[in-house]
Amino acid sequence: ALLPLCALFLYAVVYKCSANASEAGTILIQGGTVVNHDQQFEGDVLIQDGLIAEVAPRIEPPPGARLLDARGCYVLPGGIDPHTHLDMPFMGTVTADDFYTGQAAALAGGTTYHIDFALPLLHDLLQGYRVWKERAARGCMDYSFHMAVTKWTHDVAADMATLVAEGINSFKFFMAYKGSLQINDEELIEGLNRCKELGALPMVHAENGDMVAWMQERLLAANVTGPEGHPLSRPPALEGEATGRAIRLAGVVGVPLYVVHVMSIDAMEEVARARQRGQRVIGEPVASGLALDESPVWDSNFTRAAAFVMSPPLRSAEHAPALRKALASGVLQLVATDHAVFNSSQKAGGRRDFRRIPNGVNGIEERMHVVWQEMVVAGLSTPSEYVRMTSTAAAQIFNIYPRKGRLAAGSDADVIILDPRVKHRLGVGASHSPRMDTNVYEGKEVQGRVVTTISRGRLVWHEGVLDVAEGSGRYVPLPAFGPLFEGMAEQARRAMQLPYGPTPVPRDSEEAGSAAS
Ligand code: URP
Ligand code: ZN
Ligand code: ZN
Ligand code: ZN
Repeated sequence: ALLPLCALFLYAVVYKCSANASEAGTILIQGGTVVNHDQQFEGDVLIQDGLIAEVAPRIEPPPGARLLDARGCYVLPGGIDPHTHLDMPFMGTVTADDFYTGQAAALAGGTTYHIDFALPLLHDLLQGYRVWKERAARGCMDYSFHMAVTKWTHDVAADMATLVAEGINSFKFFMAYKGSLQINDEELIEGLNRCKELGALPMVHAENGDMVAWMQERLLAANVTGPEGHPLSRPPALEGEATGRAIRLAGVVGVPLYVVHVMSIDAMEEVARARQRGQRVIGEPVASGLALDESPVWDSNFTRAAAFVMSPPLRSAEHAPALRKALASGVLQLVATDHAVFNSSQKAGGRRDFRRIPNGVNGIEERMHVVWQEMVVAGLSTPSEYVRMTSTAAAQIFNIYPRKGRLAAGSDADVIILDPRVKHRLGVGASHSPRMDTNVYEGKEVQGRVVTTISRGRLVWHEGVLDVAEGSGRYVPLPAFGPLFEGMAEQARRAMQLPYGPTPVPRDSEEAGSAAS
């Protein structure tokens, strides 16, 4: 990869090179405010052999335990990022962060587990899965996969079952990226139905890709070739339309639906309406959409503007506050990043045509801090609600709770300590990924800092030192038919409006046949 020299230097300095990173011994976190999604109390957390052994108001230190003083700090379940793209070939290039650099940065930012989007290889799901497993073997923290479905064939239907057996319990359908990843409604309907049969959660990238392509042509004809053409060609209405369409189709099929990267009021309101109707729909905003707006895309400097190009696009200023309120109130359920990093030289591929700017922004390291700032410091959410939206909800939705997403005896020891008194600035200089030369959060000051990260019982981030070992990550298989599938038969019956079930009405054959016989 093309790394600027300064980035290489940073890489060498910040990473404590350790072939054998610290062992998962006994750690006692003392005197912090322990927070789960449903409780908050002053107490201790004991960690042994990679698991949480005990959580209690006061725990006697076992002999040989490493003691961590958490007074004045919050002790929280490690963050879960349910939407990342590490080492992903996309738009003629490959995302800059691989599983090692991306996960290392994640750990420094308090995220201890993520679910990455595996893509099929030439529409072949099993080949895609094989390749993603190879890429992920470099990693240094726990991970799982979603799999994208980019075409509908008998092979795909069969391969989805194989992958469910391998521990993939969610499939993503792209309603945009015409000519590459996009599927049509017929394929989406088949996919939704297959997910229903398999107990896997369908996910949608909801934008009307046909109309985006049509808008792109018109903009180019008007000589709009720069990054501003990106948001202009993908207005909120196209996100709202596709979100509503996917929700309606999932409702009629009778399967839960997860809408990734809800970026606009238009899409959020479709999720809200569906939930109000009683439909089981999950809406996922991403850190960038909650904290930023589209204004940098209009910057006269191409490099700066292109750094903010992602899909669906960042929106005008009124959208982010509305998304934050929707998240605070539970209309939207959890926060991801959609971490898909391309450095300036990669983004420069679209200098003469905005359609060629690789889509994606960073966030895997910044998410926990951005959400703490925008939701907790801003007074919109409590620490417990923060835990729900950054960790617990993802664990529940993807059926790995309470092994992940909770501080409790028997859960994986993925634990972070957050000091609410510390102010710091986000940006390239503060980042632990050596691969980024721009950062959409550059210069943003936030209050509250993750000072310690424990991953599977190992102290990987502490006192400013990142101690990670390449290849130490672990694949976490996710079982199908998670909690979202409870009661779905009843949902389906209601949605299809079939009070008698799908059975034909008996009719008198004499009458029916009289003309023919
Ligand atoms: O711009 C984005 N979001 N890039 C990553 C691929 C996707 O659509 O999630
Ligand atoms: Zn095939
Ligand atoms: Zn997407
Ligand atoms: Zn994505």
